[in-house]
Amino acid sequence: MALRGVFNQPFINLDPLLNISHYESLINEMLVGISKSWVDKGVVSCGSRDEEDKLELCQVLRRPQDYLTAEQVATLMSLTSIHQKAWYCSFLLPIHHPYSLVFIRREKDFWKKHLSQECDWTENSIHFPKTCDFIKTLPFEQIGRILFFISEPHEKTLIHYDGAHPESRFNSNTEMIYFRPMLQKKLFIWDEEKKQKYPVQGQASYWNDLDWHGVDASDRKTVSLRIDGVFTEEFREKLKIQKT
Ligand SMILES: [Fe+2]
Repeated sequence: MALRGVFNQPFINLDPLLNISHYESLINEMLVGISKSWVDKGVVSCGSRDEEDKLELCQVLRRPQDYLTAEQVATLMSLTSIHQKAWYCSFLLPIHHPYSLVFIRREKDFWKKHLSQECDWTENSIHFPKTCDFIKTLPFEQIGRILFFISEPHEKTLIHYDGAHPESRFNSNTEMIYFRPMLQKKLFIWDEEKKQKYPVQGQASYWNDLDWHGVDASDRKTVSLRIDGVFTEEFREKLKIQKT
């Protein structure tokens, strides 16, 4: 499938469109806040591509009977969250799952994560007062899910897209702002047809999360901040003419 992109580009560098000078002073609050927060080992991916030799958690959760004994499958099914399932599976199988999540606002339904009423503030949110004030100044009509992605050092995040099934790639158009408080986080968009990598530029970016994307290994833990929502019409108009 061809790259979907956003406004005919693999990604848009939002730095020229947002006032991010203030945001830079918040990075320490983010790092301290994450250190105080509940860290979730959840998964938000389609699983890995066929040619990938590493096993990804989503593949196991989709077809556990292919990887585990009947008894282990029964145990897995008795666990009540993806967090618990991720821990359990990671002990049983050589799963490549080098990332975790810290939610500030969490969605009730994955496909409605852009809508305010479908997301709730988490207990973590008290650790990010200034960051939340900043987020409220962003050009969103609605703010939905807010979360940090934390990547482990020396490990890549496998190329994936943010939906559980191939069909999901055709029926969603996410609007979100993705910050890289640590530019060591080497996010890229992957064009599967051209076998081409587009390293995402800028501290703030917008890209289509249903395009293949991944993160190259870094020498330390890295973090990114993603805010899902509904853009204002005015901001959408600016994006149409913005060239990266
Ligand atoms: Fe992703």
